[in-house]
Amino acid sequence: MRYKEPKHRTILEATKEELAQLLEKSKNDNWKPIYHIHPEFGLLNDPNGLAYFNGYYHLFHQWYPYGTTHGMKHWAHLKSKNLVEWTREKVALIPTEDYEAHGAYSGTALEINHQLYLYYTGNIKLDKINRSANQCLAIMNGEGKIEKYAFNPLIKGIPEGYTGHVRDPKVFKKNDSYYMILGAQRVNETGAFIVYQSSNGLDWNFLGELTLKNLNQSLGYMWECPDYMEINGKDLLIFSPQGIEPQNEKYKNLFNVTYAIGMLDLETLTFEVESFDEFESGFDFYATQMFKGKDGQTLLFAWAGLGEFEYPTDEFGWAHCLTFPREITIKENKVLQMPAKELSLLRLDRESKSDRCQGVVLIENKTNTYELNVTLETNNTNLFGIHLAVSDEEHLNLEFNKSSQTVTLDRSKLKHQFVEEFGVYRQSQLTIGDKVEVKILMDNSIAEIFINQGEVVFTTRLFPLKTSTNIEIFSDQFMTYQYEKYDLKQGIVKREDDLEVFNR
Ligand code: FRU
Repeated sequence: MRYKEPKHRTILEATKEELAQLLEKSKNDNWKPIYHIHPEFGLLNDPNGLAYFNGYYHLFHQWYPYGTTHGMKHWAHLKSKNLVEWTREKVALIPTEDYEAHGAYSGTALEINHQLYLYYTGNIKLDKINRSANQCLAIMNGEGKIEKYAFNPLIKGIPEGYTGHVRDPKVFKKNDSYYMILGAQRVNETGAFIVYQSSNGLDWNFLGELTLKNLNQSLGYMWECPDYMEINGKDLLIFSPQGIEPQNEKYKNLFNVTYAIGMLDLETLTFEVESFDEFESGFDFYATQMFKGKDGQTLLFAWAGLGEFEYPTDEFGWAHCLTFPREITIKENKVLQMPAKELSLLRLDRESKSDRCQGVVLIENKTNTYELNVTLETNNTNLFGIHLAVSDEEHLNLEFNKSSQTVTLDRSKLKHQFVEEFGVYRQSQLTIGDKVEVKILMDNSIAEIFINQGEVVFTTRLFPLKTSTNIEIFSDQFMTYQYEKYDLKQGIVKREDDLEVFNR
C-alpha cells in the first residue's frame, strides 16, 4: 500500500466546484504581483525546467494546488515569447505514477535532439518520516506536448552512502557527454553533490561525489538545488545548502543560497573553488535556477520565499512568487545580478526629477507596481537612503551608512510582520564612494533591490496596506539625487479559461 496523507492529492482529484472555490478565494487579492510569476492559487516554490526552446521561454515551477502548505508537488507551466509577458499553460507534470508517488520535485531542462528533456525527482514517502527518491524524465516535443518517459525512472532509488534526500537534478552537456548533478545528504548527515554521466541523456551511470576543493567551511546537512553554468570561461556553481550557521550579518535566513566560482573538472570530479560567498543579501530568496536566454545571456530565476513559514497571503489561499528574471555576469570573481533587459518592455509612464535635498523628500506615488532608478551623489552625507511603501503608518527602509560602509534593508516598520523570528533587517558590506546607484522593482508584495549594478541585491516580500504607496528619499546632509520611475504593466496574463488550465 502506498503511504498517503490528505495532502497527497493531485489536481486530477479536484471537483469543478472545488477548483472554482480555490480560484474565487484568491482572485481579488491586492497583494498579487502583476509582473512576477505567482500561482493563481495554492503554493509556489522552486522554479523548474527553465529553457528557451523553439522560440519560447518555458518556465515551470513547483506547485501545490490545495492550499499554502507544502503538499503534493506538481510542475505548473508558463510560456513567454519575450521573458516578461507570460501565459499560463496546462499543468505540465501531475504526479500520478508510483515512481513519483509523493510529488514531482524540482529539476532542470535540456534540449536534446530537438526535444526539451525535463529532468525531475520523483519524491517517495515510505512513511511519515522516511523517504526515497527516483530521478525521472518527461519530454516536450516540438509541438509543445509533454509526456512522461515510458521507461521511468531513469535512476531508481538512492546510491549507497546517502539518505533518502537525493534530488533536484541539474543536467547539462559537456564534451559530448551528459552530466547530472544531484543534491544529496550523506548518511552522516552532511550535504554533498553526486554526479551521474550519460551518453544519450537516458541511461545514467553513477560517477561519485563532487569534491569542492579549497572550501574551508562546513556547509550544513543537505544541499538542495545544484545550479551550474559556464560563464565566459569561468564555472559558476550556485546551491541552496540547509543548515549553515549564521556568520555576523551573513546566512541569517533559515536556509541560504551560496555560490562558488572556479573550475569544474568532471574527469576528477572536483570543483576548484576560487571564490565563495552568500549569493543574495535579502530575506526571501531560495532555490535558484540559471539557463541560457535567447541571446546566449545567463538568466536566473529564484523562489522569492523559503521554508514553511506563514505569510499574510495564506488567508487568500495563495503563497509566494518567483523573482523577476535576472541576468548574471561575473566580474573579478564576484557575481553581479541585474534585472533582465526585457524589463523595459513592461514600462509605461515615466517620471523623473533631479534636485538637492536634506532631510526627507516625498515622491507621491499611487501604486506599488513600478521600477525606480535612483542615483545619489553622496559626497557629504553619512546616512541616507530610500523609504518604500510609505504611508503615515509604515514603510520599508533601505539605509546606507558611509562610516560603517554598510547597506541595510529593514522591514521592522512594516505593519504586517512575518518570519520575524529570523530578524527584521538584513545588512551587507558595500564600498560607498561618492555615488550610489539603486534600481528597485516593486510589485505589490515583492521588492527587489539592486545596488551598484547588482553588486549587492536584496529580495524581500512585503505586505503593505493599500494606502502605503509613496516613496521617500532621505539624507542627513545635503545630497544631490536623481530618479526616474516607470509604472509597469501586467506581465502575467490572466486567462479566460482558467479552469481548463488546471483541470485536464
Ligand atoms: C527546495 C526543495 C527541493 C525540492 C522541492 C520540493 O525548495 O526542497 O529540494 O525538490 O523544494 O518542492
